[in-house]
Amino acid sequence: MTNPSLLILPGDGIGPEVMAEVRKIIDWFGANRDLSFDVSEGLVGGASYDAHGTPLTDETMELAQSVDAVLLGAVGGPKYDELDFSVKPERGLLRLRKEMDLYSNLRPAQCFDALADFSSLKKDVVAGLDIMIVRELTSGIYFGEPRGIIEEGNERVGINTQRYTESEIDRVARSAFELAMRRGKKLCSMEKANVMESGILWREVVTEVAKDYPEVELSHMYADAGAMQLCRWPKQFDVIVTDNLFGDLLSDAAAMLTGSLGMLPSASLGAPMANGRPKALYEPVHGSAPDIAGEGKANPIACILSFSMALRYSFDQGAEADRLEAAVERVLADGVRTADLLGEEGVTPVSTSGMGDAVIAALDASL
Ligand code: NAI
Ligand code: MG
Repeated sequence: MTNPSLLILPGDGIGPEVMAEVRKIIDWFGANRDLSFDVSEGLVGGASYDAHGTPLTDETMELAQSVDAVLLGAVGGPKYDELDFSVKPERGLLRLRKEMDLYSNLRPAQCFDALADFSSLKKDVVAGLDIMIVRELTSGIYFGEPRGIIEEGNERVGINTQRYTESEIDRVARSAFELAMRRGKKLCSMEKANVMESGILWREVVTEVAKDYPEVELSHMYADAGAMQLCRWPKQFDVIVTDNLFGDLLSDAAAMLTGSLGMLPSASLGAPMANGRPKALYEPVHGSAPDIAGEGKANPIACILSFSMALRYSFDQGAEADRLEAAVERVLADGVRTADLLGEEGVTPVSTSGMGDAVIAALDASL
């Protein structure tokens, strides 16, 4: 049997630093769990621009289309701020998302007990929180036509269009129901069907898809009410599915319930490939953090948990993903902290590689 394939794109800034820790973990699973990957590595973002004059080469794009999953670090940095829009580092990431047609963006908001004090909410509101927001990623108001700034009478008008086809709603809804089946079998769909026709259609299509998932308890909420409920009592939710715009806001808000940007993973999934696995790109939510790049201060956990999502959603290794997440939890419970997780007096931060090593030690202890 051939090994599953993984393309690693470390990118810029802290991307390569956090990815080095993930490499250690990938190697650990190969050595200890008989779970090996054919890993290839490529350039994206500024790193690719420096080498090839483009933030993503056609060769790397083709490779990304052919592998089982892509794991990306981060792109961008002040060095590239003056570049033309067409070759900016972010364009590399956008091209990957667009050409792989990654329509379902999974953003977990998970609160590790040891970090509950980091939340801006009360500890009992967030401790043990584990929810997943599924954001539609390739359509909606960010892409709809007509768009632009036009002259009308003697003033300018800014126009964007929210537009969703049935099939676009159907596919992201299915991805959310599938996810709910693997989790708490509870799905809340959020739109504004009270004021938007696209929301009315959204609600109708999601309700239709629900017939194929009778075990999942479906509810609907207006997105503004959903925002309130997320702050009030987020543990009422399991999986939330919503459109691109609302998902952008709600996933960022939910993520911050849990503390540091250095802890947040994500997955972007597309249609199933011939082997049944979805097209998939895994990446931490954070950027290239130029303010700390090269200093060994970055928290690698967001990237490590992104790999854990790959184990779960691309490679059907839920038990090994649980093992990795438990190792992270253990390390945090033991008080190991990178600089972004400090707060308590008298705690000395570990470096990026110190955190990676601690996770490896916890994995060893799990055997
Ligand atoms: P950022 O996420 O890079 O950093 C925001 C703040 O969080 C900084 O103070 C940073 O030090 C801290 N931080 C982020 N990740 C951390 C980690 N793993 N450990 C410890 N601290 C961490 O966002 P910012 O500063 O707005 O953008 C910097 C660059 O990254 C820009 O060029 C931006 O375009 C790019 N960017 C790229 C993204 C991506 O690759 N998906 C996402 C967001 C920004
Ligand atoms: Mg956002």
